[in-house]
Amino acid sequence: MSEFHVTRTLPEDAMAAALRADVLHGLTSAPKWLPPKWFYDAYGSELFERITELPEYYPTRAEREILAARAAEIAAALPARTLVELGSGSSEKTRYLIDALTGLHTYVPVDVSDTALEQAGRALVAERPGLRVHALIADFTAGLTLPDAPGPRLLAFLGGTIGNLLPAERAAFLARVRALLRPGDALLLGTDLVKDEDVLVRAYDDAAGVTAAFNKNVLNVVNRELGADFEPDAFDHVALWDAGSEWIEMRLRSRTAQTVKVPALGLAVDFAAGEELRTEVSAKFRKEGVSEELSAAGMELTRWWTDGEGRFALSLSVAR
Ligand code: SAH
Ligand code: AVI
Repeated sequence: MSEFHVTRTLPEDAMAAALRADVLHGLTSAPKWLPPKWFYDAYGSELFERITELPEYYPTRAEREILAARAAEIAAALPARTLVELGSGSSEKTRYLIDALTGLHTYVPVDVSDTALEQAGRALVAERPGLRVHALIADFTAGLTLPDAPGPRLLAFLGGTIGNLLPAERAAFLARVRALLRPGDALLLGTDLVKDEDVLVRAYDDAAGVTAAFNKNVLNVVNRELGADFEPDAFDHVALWDAGSEWIEMRLRSRTAQTVKVPALGLAVDFAAGEELRTEVSAKFRKEGVSEELSAAGMELTRWWTDGEGRFALSLSVAR
């Protein structure tokens, strides 16, 4: 019998408090910013899925190519009984791992998006008789308590989502991941790689405007949750490559001088014409950097696979 459980490790009031704190801090900072985790309400998660199908957005296809080619090798290196996936979203590519891990007992998808977890979990238990799915509604940057399930455990963090954390957040995050690894466990990490600027910028500024809608969705979330009066069309979507930091930055640029009210915070936020609000960084990596960051967190990179065009990498690491 397949089973599906959902555990809300983040009570709804804690999520609401975190959003208020982030909006207050980010919109009163100079420059203004908001963390990317607030893109992903039900509509934002749906928009992300549409992004993964865009001709310009190569990371999903590149990572899928690696998983299709290497899932058996990954499963042989780490015949996991429990697969934990951070930021699992639709769990679409994860199916390659689930199929290859023949002794898999439990799949633990972890995400802030309850709608994505619900849809993905229900589909998986219907498709995979015998699989237990224990979903966690949780923030992967906070402390995670994993459900009791047999080892060895494979922790997967796919999609290049690690690139959405700032360097200091990445170091803290990797230290937490290291603390979750017991002897015999491993981390499977997806990282997008540094490449030609045009290819990168096009991936974050697609012709159909889906990424622009995704970017602006954070304003819809703040409007709905905090009663703000952001007018999404009063902002332009901006995607630029920061060559020094080797990351793409998404911003929202105010078309005019305007004041936005956030009643739940008693806040009025002034935007100058042309002022930008940073909504996401998406860091791109090189093998040496990934290996160094893992090593600094007490892990050792043992395997490294890329797609045929060398656009994206999957790596396997163990605790040192
Ligand atoms: N892994 C999937 C989805 C990537 S999109 C793929 O490779 O296609 C990023 C996912 O991470 C979204 O589902 C989003 O809801 C989730 N996410 C973003 N920030 C998060 C956080 N701090 N904690 C938990 N989940 C988060
Ligand atoms: C989830 N994450 C890896 C995506 C990325 O590419 O940084 C989010 C995204 N932002 C714009 N397009 C997709």
